[in-house]
Amino acid sequence: MLQFKLVLLGDSSVGKSSIVHRFVKDTFDELRESTIGAAFLSQTIKVESEDQQEVVIKFEIWDTAGQERYKSLAPMYYRNANAALVVYDVTQEDSLNKAKAWVEELKNKVGDEDLVIFLVGNKVDLCEGSDNEDKRAVAATLAKQYAEDQGLMFDEVSAKTGHGVKEVFQAIGQRLYDT
Ligand code: GTP
Ligand code: MG
Repeated sequence: MLQFKLVLLGDSSVGKSSIVHRFVKDTFDELRESTIGAAFLSQTIKVESEDQQEVVIKFEIWDTAGQERYKSLAPMYYRNANAALVVYDVTQEDSLNKAKAWVEELKNKVGDEDLVIFLVGNKVDLCEGSDNEDKRAVAATLAKQYAEDQGLMFDEVSAKTGHGVKEVFQAIGQRLYDT
């Protein structure tokens, strides 16, 4: 079985652990505790080969801690990674700046030829519906343009509702398998 190492990076409380739990266990916890150090989880998915055969691939997922005091541990987890999910919260403008800083660090330390980087805007459920439009702090078009300029994959998701989460991992798996 093909295995790929995947790392999640981003500011504390943007929802990295929640995205991983939605993907691996299909659950959501309103009161998830902040990650200490890092957590390891794994999950398999099926991708399609050139001749339309199903191929099982396994993700080994390192969910890092976003709190500042754990920042120095991150290189241990992104080193040798095949893909990085860099997560921000669409309701927190500064979390996109933190995400951009991670993208810079990855490009400097790992090099983007070797690494698939997926920029993920989480918590879109908080700004759905006309009553909640003002909760959005990062326009999707702005983040999308940044991702395009930087050559990153991009999407918005909700770990709470599950919207878009599977698709992110599926797209990464297919990209890694194809290249
Ligand atoms: P650290 O481990 O400190 O780096 O944080 P994290 O990025 O892992 O965030 P975590 O998954 O712990 O989520 C932080 C808080 O945001 C929790 O209370 C979650 O319930 C909440 N949360 C996560 N994802 C979503 C989402 O998609 N929508 C909403 N409404 N809340 C979310
Ligand atoms: Mg966490």
